[in-house]
Amino acid sequence: MTAAPRIRVLFDEGTIAKRNETLAQEIAADKPQNLLVVAVLKGSFMFAADLIRALHRTGLAPQVEFVHLSSYLDGTISTGNVAILRDVESDVRGRDVLLVDDILESGRTVTFAKDLLMARGAKSVKTAVLLEKPGKRAVQIHPDYVGFTCPDVFVVGYGMDVAHSYRQLPYVGVVDHHDSSPDLFDKPE
Ligand code: IMP
Ligand code: MG
Repeated sequence: MTAAPRIRVLFDEGTIAKRNETLAQEIAADKPQNLLVVAVLKGSFMFAADLIRALHRTGLAPQVEFVHLSSYLDGTISTGNVAILRDVESDVRGRDVLLVDDILESGRTVTFAKDLLMARGAKSVKTAVLLEKPGKRAVQIHPDYVGFTCPDVFVVGYGMDVAHSYRQLPYVGVVDHHDSSPDLFDKPE
């Protein structure tokens, strides 16, 4: 009999909340002008919502846009291509843009979005990612603001899914399919 999946917490709610405040302060310290936050759907929706409110607390008044990009089929296998499923509506010309995504893995999604916005005439495009998985980079990109370095495992929660499930979790975790599976982390947070 297969045990029910359980989620091992990797970054808990309080840890994420604290980190978001720090990230917002770092972003504000760089003094963006006419700031437009562009959140990459769907995975970044929760991070973006919290980060935007933290930006407000620093005194910034960003406008907010969404672009829906997809580089994955259902499941965990990357197709390697990035498709625009829904584009931004605002004109980005001359603006400081903050691109917000959940995870930087191969780097293709963020690089694609950054190149797109720069080609449309943004004054600058900086990138904020909640998680960075350093092991799997396929293209060279250095995110400007990083929440946490993430181990090379498939994570869910805080907006991120596996086959459309687990986005609602207020923390980032790893799905364990068997209670007997070996520990993936020395010290889960
Ligand atoms: P990249 O284009 O390879 O950098 O992939 C980044 C995108 O893949 C992210 O925006 C996520 O949507 C998705 N992704 C990568 N790793 C994970 C994961 O561990 N859990 C959920 N989504 C992931
Ligand atoms: Mg994504």
